[in-house]
Formats: sequence, structure tokens, C-alpha cells
Amino acid sequence: MPLPAAKSTPGSTERNRFAQNLFAPLPQRYDRLAEILSFGQNGRWRRAMVSRIGPADGQAVLDVASGTAGVALQLAERTGASVIGVDLTEQMLRQGQRNVAGSAMAERIRLVAGRAEQLPFGDGTFDALTFTYLLRYVTDPEATLRELARVIKPGGRVASLEFMVPPSRFWRAWWWLYTRLLLPAGGLLTGGREWFAVGRFLGPSISGHYRRYPVPWTVEAWRRAGFTDVGVRVMSLGGGLVMWGTRAGG
Ligand SMILES: C[S@@+](CC[C@H](N)C(=O)[O-])C[C@H]1O[C@@H](n2cnc3c(N)ncnc32)[C@H](O)[C@@H]1O
Repeated sequence: MPLPAAKSTPGSTERNRFAQNLFAPLPQRYDRLAEILSFGQNGRWRRAMVSRIGPADGQAVLDVASGTAGVALQLAERTGASVIGVDLTEQMLRQGQRNVAGSAMAERIRLVAGRAEQLPFGDGTFDALTFTYLLRYVTDPEATLRELARVIKPGGRVASLEFMVPPSRFWRAWWWLYTRLLLPAGGLLTGGREWFAVGRFLGPSISGHYRRYPVPWTVEAWRRAGFTDVGVRVMSLGGGLVMWGTRAGG
């Protein structure tokens, strides 16, 4: 039951349209290829992020950039929460809806269309919030973080997952080779033209994001947006980054 597509949402940006065009053709193979192309690391990273939310029986958790609902499903299963997943791309949400309907969690997960930059929820609606692979797709990451903080209750938990550029020069060289050569080739072989485009886009997108917004900047941006006790965990030699914090004022 995804709500109307976010493309009709007032305030929709060029970046939003770019993300929609990128993700619209992907949902059918997304879950399988996200695992294959990350050598199974995506699943590990997700589990590490969801662990930061902890038990949340009967609580309300918002999962932003929910896509095909992989994180939303895990949140509902592992924390006992009721979960709302919000995403910009209707096609991803439709696949998410099929995934949710085929699971034992259908009663506790609802998916809605919306933009992280302008969430369709009131202040302090949620006990906790997760967001995954989001900040590279928004024009102003700090303003988006403020919007995420707005909908969490004071004292509520937040956790995120994003790709990262390995800090070690040695692993960065391998990472560069992987993202610039193997990922596009692997995408093409396993998913065709659309996944080739994603494979080509990802490496430069991740590098460009961290040139502009290095990890220490991001930690400070979380604090300025209203989160305390901000922590980071570098995953898989620097291929991924899990972050967490608490909404100030609890
Ligand atoms: C790489 S997918 C991740 C999906 C899911 N979180 C997962 O881990 O499988 C990124 C998702 O972010 C969504 N997205 C991009 N920009 C967004 C925005 N501004 N607001 C909400 N969702 C957005 C895309 O539509 C896409 O489904």
C-alpha cells in the first residue's frame, strides 16, 4: 500500500529525481545483487546497525530510505517494534511491499512514499529511527539530519549505515580497483545495463561524498542536528560505516 509517489511532493529536488531514476529499474534484483556485489557484507552491516537500536517492543521506529524493506523487516523481527519505512522511489517500495507481505512481519510494517528532507510526520513521532545509504542522495546532508532528528522523541535512538572509503592506503587501492572496475563489470554481468550504471556511479559517488563531507564533519553534523553520544564503527576494513546516537533532550 505505498502512498502516492514522491515525485508529486512539493520541494522535490534535482537530486531526488536523480535517485528515483537510478533506483526505479532496480527493485526486482535489488535484494540479491546488493548481497552478491557486497560479498555478503551488506547483511552484516545491517545487523550491526539494527543492533544499535536494541529492543523496542511495542515502540515505533521509522526506517528512512527503506527501499525494498530489508532493514524494516529486520527491525521488526529483531527489535519487536512497529516499523514505518519511508522511501522516495515508488518502484522500490512496491518490491518492499511484496517482501513484507510474504513475511511474518506484515502486521507490524507499513511503507509510505516520502522524502527524507521533508518527512510526512509530526515532531517527536518516533521512538527510534534508522537510515541507510541516504546522505549521498540529498542536496544538504546537515539539513536532512535536522529533519530526521525532528521526528524522533527526545532520548530516542538513531542508527545509520553508509558506504565509506577505506582509511588505509593499501585497502583504499583495492577498494578503488573494486569500485571502478569490478563493480561495474559485475553489475553488467549479473544485472544488465541498469546495474552497470549503478556500478559505475557508486565508486565516484562515495569518493565525492567523503571529499565534501569527511567522517569527522559528519559526526559534528549529527551533533549540530541535535544528536548526542554519537558513535561510529568502521566496517569491513573501511568499506562501510555504522553510526549511532541519541536524540538530545531526553
Ligand atoms: C541503496 S538503497 C537502500 C535501500 C535500503 N535501505 C537497503 O538498505 O536495502 C537507497 C534508497 O534511498 C532512497 N532515497 C534516495 N534519496 C532519498 C530521499 N531523499 N528520501 C527518501 N529516500 C531516498 C532510494 O529511493 C533507495 O531506495
